[in-house]
Amino acid sequence: MELANVPNLASSSSFFFSSCTCRVLCYRGRRTGTGAITVFAAGSRCSADSACSELIEQQNVDPLSVASSPANTHRYRRRDFAAVALLPFLLPNVDMASAAELYDGSIIQNGVRNVLTKVKAAGVLRLVFHDAGTFDVGDKSGGMNGSIIYEVDRPENTGLSKPLKILRKAKEGIDQVQQVSWADLIAVAGAEAVALCGGPEIPVRLGRLDSRTADPAGKLPEETLDIVALKTSFSKKGFSVQEMVVLSGAHTIGGKGFGNPNGFDNTYFKILLEKPQPTSSGMPIGLPTDWALTKDDECLRWINIYAEDQDKFFADFRDAYTKLVNSGASWRTA
Ligand code: HEM
Repeated sequence: MELANVPNLASSSSFFFSSCTCRVLCYRGRRTGTGAITVFAAGSRCSADSACSELIEQQNVDPLSVASSPANTHRYRRRDFAAVALLPFLLPNVDMASAAELYDGSIIQNGVRNVLTKVKAAGVLRLVFHDAGTFDVGDKSGGMNGSIIYEVDRPENTGLSKPLKILRKAKEGIDQVQQVSWADLIAVAGAEAVALCGGPEIPVRLGRLDSRTADPAGKLPEETLDIVALKTSFSKKGFSVQEMVVLSGAHTIGGKGFGNPNGFDNTYFKILLEKPQPTSSGMPIGLPTDWALTKDDECLRWINIYAEDQDKFFADFRDAYTKLVNSGASWRTA
């Protein structure tokens, strides 16, 4: 595929990589239009995700700050690509794999942006939970491994073939430039969906490997679970009660009636505190599991915190999302 067919490459905001052992490109920020590529200074720490905080070995002077240009021209994109290709030679301590992955990130992000709209965002975010949420800390099975592509016919995945079809289209375009795993694609797409709807920007570590088989069935929580069973289900995936509550806040977007279906905000928590339990056009709002959270003191404490403080919700959602998309993932080593 011609670079020209990958729009917005240059407008992708800041990308960074580290030379630490996680060796994984992560991207941060979006749509700032600066086109700047930031390289960590020596002595700083990788903040790719909570799993890696190694010291960065590379000392450099940010040679790849690409001049910003409102006109997102084909020529500009070629120059951006050329700069990235030159990176390993400019920075001798940086290996080629990191540079390739640096390019990878922008391609994935822009490939997703080409197909994603606010209306499609909820389905795409739900896809993340249904791929990663099969993780079992006990036997380390399941997790963020792209296996959802083999599982769409399961009853709990009803409705997910649509968002999957959307991402398949993105994948076809991206794969022509650089192969991307389903797991990375879904993780990035979910983060893009959240940001597109006005939620927090979430850096996503890249390099997940795909599973070639379906995960064990029956791992996702059913919507009729009571609070005890719901807690058990999330604890088996390695999540605390606070993480379960904040992740449930994803239901703020989509068709369950928690305010604006395309607006990622803390309305979910505000509505959960309403009494009597509200309805929308005569229909109940939310799922039984959403309301089950309000029956538990610890959950209720978090619901109150997030209802009062959207910034706190966003920060905690970002952390829990990062943990979710890294759950049970196997990583490329080079
Ligand atoms: C607490 C346990 C959870 C249960 C039982 C559950 C179940 C469900 C169900 C039954 C739906 C409705 C699907 C439909 O309309 O056909 C739904 C929608 C959704 N779920 Fe969950 N979910 C849970 C947690 C999560 C988590 C952790 C996330 C993401 C981090 C998530 C993201 C979504 C989104 C975004 C939608 C809206 C989809 C749309 O309207 O297209 N869910 N969920």
